Amino acid sequence: MFAVQFDRFGPPEVLSVGPFPEPHAGPGEVRVRVEAAGISPVDLALRAGGSPSSEKIALPHIPGVDAAGVVDEVGPGVTGVAVGDEVFGAVDVARLGGASAEFAVLAFWTAKPSSMSWEEAGAGGTSIETATRALDLLGVREGTTLLIDGAAGGVGGVAVQLAIARGARVIGTGGPESQDFISRLAAIPVPYGPGLPERVRALHDGRVGLALDVAGAGSLPELIAITGSAASVVTIADFTGPGLGVRLSLGDFGGEPNGRHGLAVAAALSEEGRFRLPLREVFPMAEAARAHALAARGPRQGKIALTAPHVLTTTALA
Ligand SMILES: NC(=O)c1ccc[n+]([C@@H]2O[C@H](COP(=O)([O-])OP(=O)(O)OC[C@H]3O[C@@H](n4cnc5c(N)ncnc54)[C@H](OP(=O)(O)O)[C@@H]3O)[C@@H](O)[C@H]2O)c1
Repeated sequence: MFAVQFDRFGPPEVLSVGPFPEPHAGPGEVRVRVEAAGISPVDLALRAGGSPSSEKIALPHIPGVDAAGVVDEVGPGVTGVAVGDEVFGAVDVARLGGASAEFAVLAFWTAKPSSMSWEEAGAGGTSIETATRALDLLGVREGTTLLIDGAAGGVGGVAVQLAIARGARVIGTGGPESQDFISRLAAIPVPYGPGLPERVRALHDGRVGLALDVAGAGSLPELIAITGSAASVVTIADFTGPGLGVRLSLGDFGGEPNGRHGLAVAAALSEEGRFRLPLREVFPMAEAARAHALAARGPRQGKIALTAPHVLTTTALA
């Protein structure tokens, strides 16, 4: 099969598209013929090398944890899905990649609704599950006022919409260029950075029940001050959290009691016109190096998707 891959760590230019041995669906997995895959911060860190996770992968490595496609192999023990079904989801988190290729093996998935483009579906899996689990941990529900720090990014843009769908009122932080983007997601925008508690108090009487840090930018003390309690804050990206009493929500979705229900919820909301995966740009897989270079630059608004060579629609979607 063809695959985006790198055989040494380095800048985006180490990425190429070439032949790679085909993977097969193991127990509890499906294999899809990929239509589109996503790019995530972890892909950039792995490719650059030097992160603890870089030591866990064998080279050459196929980047990408999210993919959508048509099922062509169903692993042992899998029910409720058949060859030919259109699905979206993500690889086993322990594999740290494998999605941006002709075939990818998914560890969790749901049916792709016709309301979702392949590009949206292919880039959404991990962001949707990550956002869902963090909102569950916080207990976000009807009437909650939730502050999301990093609301324009891949996880943030999803978390805003899923929280609003639960009936929450959402305040979202972003850089100066992301304020309109956050408004379009139906959150109340506020600039991130020093002085956040004062800015939030000014726009919302100081009453914020819960806060979600999806940026990992060092704002946990401010988020605790804004909500009044470390127990009211969850982070997905700041490892100092537990030392401050803040829960850190990490990526083993299967281990969570309610793990992996987020995709189905997002698919249903998409069909109702209440959810869309914000796409920053779409590239063909052959231009993965350009896509990785863009992903490293801000402002980061939504996800970047890669389309498989047989997909003819490579239109950039705002
Ligand atoms: N725990 C998990 O299971 C899990 C899963 C997925 C991702 N993650 C981690 O979560 C983080 C976010 O992922 P992502 O995919 O959403 O990344 P992303 O798409 O790169 O978005 C990050 C967002 O943070 C914003 N930001 C930058 N500086 C900030 C600051 N000082 N304060 C507040 N926001 C700031 C960025 O805005 P600008 O670019 O406009 O400045 C951007 O919109 C990454 O560290 C990722 O590795 C964790």
